[in-house]
Amino acid sequence: MSDPLFTQEEYRKFDEGIAELLLHYPSDRKSAAMLPALRLLQTLKGWLPPEGMELVAQKLETHKEHAYEVATFYVMYHTQKPATYVIDVCTSLSCSLRGAEGLLAFLEQKLDIRSGVNGERYFLREAECQASCGTAPCFQINEDHFENLTVQKVEQILENLK
Ligand code: FES
Repeated sequence: MSDPLFTQEEYRKFDEGIAELLLHYPSDRKSAAMLPALRLLQTLKGWLPPEGMELVAQKLETHKEHAYEVATFYVMYHTQKPATYVIDVCTSLSCSLRGAEGLLAFLEQKLDIRSGVNGERYFLREAECQASCGTAPCFQINEDHFENLTVQKVEQILENLK
C-alpha cells in the first residue's frame, strides 16, 4: 500500500487553505482558483504529486487534466519531485550579455551536474528573465533571488547551502 498523500496536519492545512481560497472566487467558477490551489499543494508537499493534483481538481470541481495543463505551463510548478535546490539561471538578453552562460558553465563544473537534469541535491536549469535585468546576471535558488553575480559571489552562495 502506498503512503498517504498528506499527514493529518497537512490535510487540515490543505482543506482549510482551499476553503479560504474559494471564498475569493465565484461558486460557479471554482476552477479559477487553480494557480493558488496548486501553490498551496506545492507549499505543503514540495512538489505536485499526481494524487494531489487530482485532489485539487476535485476540490475545484474540474477535471485533473486542467490541473495538469496549468501545472505544466508554469516552470515554478514541479510535477516531478525536484532536487533540494532548484537553481534557475536567467539566460535572457541582459543576463546573457553580462555572462550568464559562463555562470551556467561554472555551476555545471563546480557542482558536477548538467543543466536541465533534475538530481537529488541540485536541479540546475536555464530560465527566462527574472525581472532583474538592471542587476544582471542573476539566478534564483528555490524562492531566493540573487543578483549582480560574480564567480566569487556564487561560490559564497553555494557555500552557504551546505
Ligand atoms: S535578462 Fe536576466 S533578469 Fe532580465
